[in-house]
Amino acid sequence: MQGNGPAPTIRTGLNASRPSHAPGGLPGKTLQGPGSLRAAPGAGGAASLAGRPMRRPAVAARRRDVCAMVLAAGLGKRMLSESSKLVHAVAGRPMVRHVVDAAKAAGMARTVVVVGNQADDVRRAVGEGDKRIGFAYQNAQLGTGHAVLSAETQLVGYEGDILILNGDLPALRPDTLKGFVEFHRASGAPLSLLTAVVPDPKGYGRVMRTYSGDVSRIVEEADATAEERATREINCGIYCSDAQWLWDPLKRARADNAQKEIYLTDLVEILRRDGHKVAAYRHPDAEEVLGVNDRRELAAAVRALHRRKAAALMQDGVTILDPETAYIDVDVKIGPDTILEPGVMLLGATEIGRGVVIGTGTRIVDSIVGDGTSVLPYCVIAQSKIGRGCRIGPFAHLRPETHLDEDVRVGNFVETKKTRMAAGSKANHLTYLGDAEIGRKANIGAGTITCNYDGVSKMRTIIEDDVFVGSDTQLVAPVRIRKGAFIGAGSTITKDVPAHALAISRAEQVVKEDWVKRFGPKARQKGDKGKGGHSD
Ligand code: UD1
Ligand code: CA
Repeated sequence: MQGNGPAPTIRTGLNASRPSHAPGGLPGKTLQGPGSLRAAPGAGGAASLAGRPMRRPAVAARRRDVCAMVLAAGLGKRMLSESSKLVHAVAGRPMVRHVVDAAKAAGMARTVVVVGNQADDVRRAVGEGDKRIGFAYQNAQLGTGHAVLSAETQLVGYEGDILILNGDLPALRPDTLKGFVEFHRASGAPLSLLTAVVPDPKGYGRVMRTYSGDVSRIVEEADATAEERATREINCGIYCSDAQWLWDPLKRARADNAQKEIYLTDLVEILRRDGHKVAAYRHPDAEEVLGVNDRRELAAAVRALHRRKAAALMQDGVTILDPETAYIDVDVKIGPDTILEPGVMLLGATEIGRGVVIGTGTRIVDSIVGDGTSVLPYCVIAQSKIGRGCRIGPFAHLRPETHLDEDVRVGNFVETKKTRMAAGSKANHLTYLGDAEIGRKANIGAGTITCNYDGVSKMRTIIEDDVFVGSDTQLVAPVRIRKGAFIGAGSTITKDVPAHALAISRAEQVVKEDWVKRFGPKARQKGDKGKGGHSD
């Protein structure tokens, strides 16, 4: 990491409130009372600090906890959406979960997510039941500073560092957060910012610096002068704050700005006025810290994550013929020697084995594809399981709960749903198999239809091993075709068929010699003309 903030130097006198971590401090002096290691409110302003500069011991820094706070209560107006911006999917995960997951992966002891707007949906998107994740409630969306203050009660007594993250940064990497926290600790400043220099800073808060290069304040776009707007260094919405220098200073922030909000970013100026330094780490990868506020930025974030995913897969031995058109969600797993043709979508919790080929135009959601299977172009597959060595498509539609064992063939214009096909079975053309159980090595002829629905309920069709179903057969469920039976083409099967039997239900063929010459349409026409009728 290359930081450009202040070198690790002076630590504030508040170290005194952490006697165990700061042996050189003044134990007891600022302690509030038994059991609390928090500084008294307002303790240690600039004046009281000036006299007691001290270097923070490296070992103490390492021992300290880090908690994260994720701001996810906002309205997200610029999305023009019915649902909260934070729950919109970005490459397979809700936006806010990318941020919470990155915090977790960066080793945060605890993460508090601030919710408010559509709180239940956002909580669900984050996922409940993880003890390291807590929620705070912001009752009115009065700005990012107010959102942070809404989490104070969740963090009472906690006095380590707090990594504060906007919830709309889905491309954040855990390593960046880890490095940033280290940078913050080394800086000794009560607050550090992560910034980036971007070609088009529109919409972001601009980072203002003094002549000597120190951060002086952040100006929001809406409040900035034309000159300030020309600054291309932006605030990314990623902060690391010493808990003891957060709550009370932030309470001094006022909503006297263009948006009438309490800005978290005002903390910079408040701390500076109190005589503190604010450190800034300039991150080189602007794409990673892209904030998603509107649909254009959403598309850019999705693209960034897909591109990153494709790069990682190629690194692991997957051939991607056109990485620019590969839509692969972050949680998808793919084995080596698999080939993805251009324009495939692999979504959700999909797992693809080794040596698989996925043809162009295919879309697979939450499904498993076994080793050596070929999925030919233009297949649509959802919540299905496909074994090894199968051949699917082109133009096959595998709907939820399709389960194919190994060496199964499902060809063009075949639709399956809640159907199991055991090893070596084939349904090569123009077929619907719904609510069916098909044994091994069965052959399902072209145009076979399971009539599984009577308008009220769904019923099952069972086709046992080695059955041959002739083309254009309707199997009216519930019905069972036992082992090795043979169904004549064009049959409508309404009753169970015993093992090794032939079942055929079509009407017997009738042949009438010279019928066409004598009674066919042309012959009739002639007869009509003779009678003086008309022919149109
Ligand atoms: C914010 C920063 C801006 C920075 C940008 C980076 C402020 C005032 N501005 O602007 O300097 O460049 O992020 O992407 O902080 N939120 C709440 N409660 C609220 C308001 C917002 O929880 O009352 C949450 C939102 O859900 C969002 C995050 O805070 O996840 C940031 O809010 P947003 O409105 O997107 O801020 P920006 O205008 O992007
Ligand atoms: Ca934002």
